[in-house]
Amino acid sequence: MKGDIFSIYEKFVAKNFGQSVYEDALTKAEPHFETRGPFVSPEVYPDGDFITLLDKTLEIVKVPVEQAMILFGRFAFARLAATIPHLMGRYHNSVELLRELDSIIHVEVRKLRQGTNPPKFTFVLGESGAVELVYESERRLYALAQGLILGCADYFAEKVEVERHIHEDGRCTFRLHYDK
Ligand code: HEM
Repeated sequence: MKGDIFSIYEKFVAKNFGQSVYEDALTKAEPHFETRGPFVSPEVYPDGDFITLLDKTLEIVKVPVEQAMILFGRFAFARLAATIPHLMGRYHNSVELLRELDSIIHVEVRKLRQGTNPPKFTFVLGESGAVELVYESERRLYALAQGLILGCADYFAEKVEVERHIHEDGRCTFRLHYDK
């Protein structure tokens, strides 16, 4: 997982629960990390270290993991977007961005840093104007994806209703209704 995600996570915990919660979670998590030394944005770290840090935070603040991941995704979107200003200028709304999430944005993420592994998304625009986004990743971070979709709508000052359907093979379809 890219170091950016760890840095944004620290800001998320500090803002919502306080810097001391982050420090406590880090102290509890450290003995279980594969990583030695601080997490820095441009590097890539084991996913397991992120999950350990998340688990230790949630032990302290007692927020369910699903809810925490949605909140984190919502918080993270604008901060991730700020790392690709040269691309964000192309988009005026969520639909334009989601259409190119797989073919442009996550491709750029891979290009900027080897060793990252963003998920696969398939975009379908339905006749009624509803958008379907199909998510495929072995990480199965459905709640994180949902939070990022919400954060994307916040970014463009839109309202969105999200329906989510998890398939038996692990893929997940998000049906999105934007209210312009
Ligand atoms: C609504 C829009 C977006 C959605 C739904 C989305 C979804 C996701 C999800 C669910 C992951 C976790 C990895 C996985 O599930 O396998 C991820 C990873 C990532 N995404 Fe996105 N993303 C969005 C926009 C962006 C933007 C704008 C950036 C800007 C740079 C970005 C950069 C990244 C990075 C750096 C990772 C970590 C990849 C890694 O370290 O392996 N994403 N994305």
